[in-house]
Amino acid sequence: MDYAARKWPDFEHTGPGTLAGRFLRRFWQPVYLSADLPIGQARPLKIMGQQFTIYRGESGTAHVVADRCLHRGTLLSTGQVEGDQIRCFYHGWKYDATGQCVERPAERSCPANLYIRSYPTHEWLNMVFAYLGEGEAPPFPVLSDVADDGYLTVQAPLRTFNYFSQLENALDEVHFRFVHRISRIAEQGLTDAIPTLTCEETDYGLARASTRRGVDRKTHFLMPNINASIFFDALHIVWRVPVDDYSHISFTVDYCGGTSEEMDAYRARHEAEAAQIAAATPASVLVDEVLAGRMSLDELVDHPDLLSIQDGTALKGQGVIANRENELLGASDTHIVHMRRLWTNELTAIRDGAAPRVWQWPDSLEVTSGLPIKDAA
Ligand code: FES
Ligand SMILES: [Fe+2]
Repeated sequence: MDYAARKWPDFEHTGPGTLAGRFLRRFWQPVYLSADLPIGQARPLKIMGQQFTIYRGESGTAHVVADRCLHRGTLLSTGQVEGDQIRCFYHGWKYDATGQCVERPAERSCPANLYIRSYPTHEWLNMVFAYLGEGEAPPFPVLSDVADDGYLTVQAPLRTFNYFSQLENALDEVHFRFVHRISRIAEQGLTDAIPTLTCEETDYGLARASTRRGVDRKTHFLMPNINASIFFDALHIVWRVPVDDYSHISFTVDYCGGTSEEMDAYRARHEAEAAQIAAATPASVLVDEVLAGRMSLDELVDHPDLLSIQDGTALKGQGVIANRENELLGASDTHIVHMRRLWTNELTAIRDGAAPRVWQWPDSLEVTSGLPIKDAA
């Protein structure tokens, strides 16, 4: 890619062979919610513009393999799971979890060199992660902040615009004051003042602080596409995973590890909210209505997923793929610029054939909500 003439490299396109796609594929990525993949079932999967088959074997293990059968290319997601193997729907060729073809019922033999690509998987936090890159998968990172005895929720909303805009938005706290001025985070005091932003580069990405009225909100950006913060009493960790260049899934974990009373209160609130959101018109539909001028945000202030509608309006409003060439960046964009520089260094290394940096998660993240404003007052 020639980005000598560009202000920034191409962060947005992540299909096979792209620099950003090669970079993201060097990390374990969540690709599916565990609960959505029953034992013995296969599904089509699209991540970073690439098609796969995901299935859960009868052992309970999730597997990710190529999308199509070697014979005449029908989709393996329509096939049958047998043990931990998958049999093609069309003429019954069967593949094991390593991708090796182990049976061709209408042929005399099954040569050893017939195999489809398979990808390492790992389940954590009720999500199936896959390593979709080349070579051996890196060690799977974990955080000690999330323990077995807390209350964990996971969600995977689809957003119909480029993932990088959403990734940047989580590093943009100035927007709270404007985009979310009518919302439940306004009720908590996060929109009262424009924050002062500081951030520090770390072994995992950025330790960020936003300070309002002397109270720090400490959050983290973990390379390459993860944000961690405290959000409504829960540790909130989000991976922004491209489905293609025009849509992404925010794999979102909220973990409440407090006292049993706190957990019960959190669970009750979360379940009520989730039920309301499930019954309401999806945020992505309403964002399109607002952007088309057929609805206004003022009409939607009682929607249970108002924060997503507000963010989606600002972000998809930048364009399905935002143009970063004509921006006028300022002090409010400090964290975004720092993140883009980390990414630029990595993409340049990949372009030049140099070894990208090894990023190391901490054992534990210091995260604060920035909310004790009422206490501090
Ligand atoms: S296309 Fe799969 S067995 Fe024929
Ligand atoms: Fe927001």
